[in-house]
Amino acid sequence: MIDDISSARDAALAALSLAATVDALDAVVGEHLGKRGPLSSLKARLGSLPTVDEKKAMGQVLNEAMQSVAAAADERRALLAAVERRARLDGERMDLTEYRRPARRGHAHLVTEAWERLEDVFVGLGFKVAEGPEIETDWYNFEALNMPPSHPARSMWDTLFVDHGPAGSTVLRTHTSPVQARVMTTQEPPIYVVAPGRVFRNETADATHMPVFHQIEGLVVDRGISFADLAGTIEAFTRAFFGPGFTSRLRPSFFPFTEPSAEFDIRRPDGSWLELGGCGMVHPNVLASCGIDPEEWSGFAFGFGIDRMAKEYHGVDDLREMYSNDIRFIEQF
Ligand code: PHE
Repeated sequence: MIDDISSARDAALAALSLAATVDALDAVVGEHLGKRGPLSSLKARLGSLPTVDEKKAMGQVLNEAMQSVAAAADERRALLAAVERRARLDGERMDLTEYRRPARRGHAHLVTEAWERLEDVFVGLGFKVAEGPEIETDWYNFEALNMPPSHPARSMWDTLFVDHGPAGSTVLRTHTSPVQARVMTTQEPPIYVVAPGRVFRNETADATHMPVFHQIEGLVVDRGISFADLAGTIEAFTRAFFGPGFTSRLRPSFFPFTEPSAEFDIRRPDGSWLELGGCGMVHPNVLASCGIDPEEWSGFAFGFGIDRMAKEYHGVDDLREMYSNDIRFIEQF
């Protein structure tokens, strides 16, 4: 009987080693170790052995044979499963090398582009970038800027009010100048900052006005700052931003928060002028409101519209076109 067990075991092992897939292997296992398989039928023959000892001994031999077949089957199953998994993964892998026409890239909004270039130029001139909130208190937007309540100069800005707190106490900022006050009340001089941002006015949109637009504010506070520093900074900015053929000029003007005040214009290479923004020496009352001693420190400030500048820079006729999202317009830039 030992010989029968050995040959049944060897037949099973040989069949296992020939199985090429997990399914084929399972079939072989069923065939050889299953109830009707050769090894099981040998088990039935144990009962016919004459003595208990012989039954025991032969039963053990048979068990060992079956266990070695089962172990060999497990080992081969693991191997075949790994091979099949590898093949499946290879089959599922996508070919990403197929050639495709690259997607056409768009570009940032003209105002965003101008905003970012302005920041770059001013950072290059030694300024830091500051920010302030778009919803502002009356104090920062007007009062700290030398415009007490009901000051007539407030009418220079058509103000949109926010229904929050006491009537008139909260506004959508009408300019970026409140950021000046925010910087001066929180930072010690020397101060060299620019503050780009969105501003709001109660105006009807037309070719040169929008109710929502963008400004950039500049503020310098240091010892011994003079009007010459202001003029020099505007000129340095003009050349850096527009190019070597451009220059600037200042014309007397009025703002409550600067004294003296000026408008500044950019001269194009063809001799035409672009009126860009306002500027001046920071009013001593503004320094004092913000806790800076005007006897010790002086400064200048300037501010201008980013949308206006992008419009002129790209030769756009109508500001509203820049916000129309018309692809025929956008694609020109
Ligand atoms: N805030 C002014 C405006 O919106 C511009 C300005 C800024 C003027 C700084 C002087 C100094 O019109």
